[in-house]
Amino acid sequence: TDKYAVIGHPIKHSKSPFIHAEFAKQSQQDIEYTAIEVPLESLASSLQQLRDILKLKGINITVPFKEQAWALADSLSDRAQRAGAINTVIFESDGTIYGDNTDGIGLCRDLENHHISLKDKRILLIGAGGAARGVIAPLMTYQPAELFIANRTASKATQLADLFSDLGIIKGGGFTDVSGHFDIIINATAASLQDEVPDLPESIFTEKSCCYDMMYADRDTAFIKWAKQHKVSQTIDGLGMLVEQAAEAFYLWRHIRPDTQAVLQQLRENIK
Ligand code: ATR
Repeated sequence: TDKYAVIGHPIKHSKSPFIHAEFAKQSQQDIEYTAIEVPLESLASSLQQLRDILKLKGINITVPFKEQAWALADSLSDRAQRAGAINTVIFESDGTIYGDNTDGIGLCRDLENHHISLKDKRILLIGAGGAARGVIAPLMTYQPAELFIANRTASKATQLADLFSDLGIIKGGGFTDVSGHFDIIINATAASLQDEVPDLPESIFTEKSCCYDMMYADRDTAFIKWAKQHKVSQTIDGLGMLVEQAAEAFYLWRHIRPDTQAVLQQLRENIK
């Protein structure tokens, strides 16, 4: 049995053990996947223990360790290099730590599952933390007309826009710098956790807009509720992204692509 885990702090409510158990069942993979809470101050020594004592083959990493783990990895995929954070690790047989980031591809696959095309579209990405940074390069591969990064703290958004400016038309600013409307509006802030919505003008929405909250909950998030009030064409929460990023991690470890839709359906039924 090959062993894997997700680490975070807190980690109790993680759906990853369920998701990976379902993937393993589907594909008859003999793996064990658990959730492990790691103390906030000891990521480096915890990684060593997971590898040397628990003999894990790989791990997923969640809040708040993604950036710190990125800095500790011995080698990185190109997409992880650019993301500045990792959510997936392979413990290599020579003892080194390989880091990858599957969050961005997870978002893109979920958008594709919903038949949302990004080409030539105006995208508004709200937030400029680790979650936002991880999805910028993957989104730009679809050649949108423009990506505007809007953040409560404007300077963080303009910095991110500069950092990725080689990939296309990317602008950044504060909430008051946002003008016009957008085809696709993606919330990558933590505001929904506090039941708040970003303080953006209502003019961002049209009846054709598609709104995506990278968060999810057992009911509509504050952002999804707000978007629905403006009669947008489509609202999507982050549960599909969660399953897709897990599927990409499973692929890295086991070289098998699981059926994500079956697992997503089960998760939806479980949280009802
Ligand atoms: P993550 O890894 O989830 O991105 P983070 O790096 O701490 O976490 O970033 C949190 C993001 O949510 C930031 O963009 C933050 O805005 P600031 O940079 O101005 O702090 C945003 N955020 C958090 N709470 C928010 C709120 N109530 N309204 C708007 N933005 C919020």
